[in-house]
Amino acid sequence: MNKPRILVARSVFPEVIEKLQQFFDVEHNQADEQWTKQQLGEKLHDKVGAFTTGGERIDAQTLAAAPALKICANMAVGYNNFDVPAMTQRGVLATNTPDVLTETTADFGFALLMATARRISESEHFLRAGKWGKWSYDMFAGSDVHGSTLGILGMGRIGQGIARRGAHGFGMNVIYHNRSRLSAELEGECKARYVTKEELLRTADHLVLVLPYSAESHHTIGAAELSQMKPTATLVNIARGGIVDDAALAKALRDRTIAAAGLDVFEGEPKVHPDLLTVPNVVLTPHIASATVPTRLAMAQLAADNLIGFLVHGKPLTPLNPDVLKAGA
Ligand code: GLV
Repeated sequence: MNKPRILVARSVFPEVIEKLQQFFDVEHNQADEQWTKQQLGEKLHDKVGAFTTGGERIDAQTLAAAPALKICANMAVGYNNFDVPAMTQRGVLATNTPDVLTETTADFGFALLMATARRISESEHFLRAGKWGKWSYDMFAGSDVHGSTLGILGMGRIGQGIARRGAHGFGMNVIYHNRSRLSAELEGECKARYVTKEELLRTADHLVLVLPYSAESHHTIGAAELSQMKPTATLVNIARGGIVDDAALAKALRDRTIAAAGLDVFEGEPKVHPDLLTVPNVVLTPHIASATVPTRLAMAQLAADNLIGFLVHGKPLTPLNPDVLKAGA
């Protein structure tokens, strides 16, 4: 019997390809070529399943080119590359990879916060450039992390992981703002206090963004919000590019209306706003918050298991639009 045909849109762990090949006729991209949207559509034409990463846009146009498609399994927890309503309308299941990356990503959020507050990148560049001639009392003096006020915007699983690290590990006073308030039990575990967005901006010493990207969260942090922050505050974005207005942030960093920023995600990445590349008080990393070997493997395995679970057994593990399952039943 012919195996169902699937596409793996980007290079991935060879053992994951081998596992998929047990069940499917797999067209892979181990050469990691950059396909245009049109090429992606052409490749999807005869496929029932797709293994995607955050870089492949699946919208009405892509779906129109993929008449046989039944599932797209994203190897990412964020899924703003999917037009989920268009997928649901076409009866295409969407899945993502929650939970397996929570603690790793929270570790990274904290690492970026620490690097930003303590000016680690800036001071390393100085040292590597051979500029370290003598010690001085204020050389790369940053701000304290322990005992300071940690603000978290977006209090899902990763936000809660960062809150726990801050409250329990560093004795931070944790405040958060979210669309919905956490239960009293979760607030207690995270030692986090719910505040308005205005209070969060005004009082956080370190503000970490962990909210999902959507049309509503576009430029959640722009010039007006940055102007409400303390001049000594730092801002960390591990959520998605587009949540911050990068041009406004570069200006705030240059004018020192906030002290520093740590960014793992960018508007229009992998391009980075040129002004961010020239300001010294920003730590820049290339979207690596979930990048540890075990976590990236767990994410790839979960995406593969969603394809196998759905196409072979009729049961995906982490569906985003489960209505598609009911409609197909
Ligand atoms: C990474 O950004 C993810 O959404 O998993």
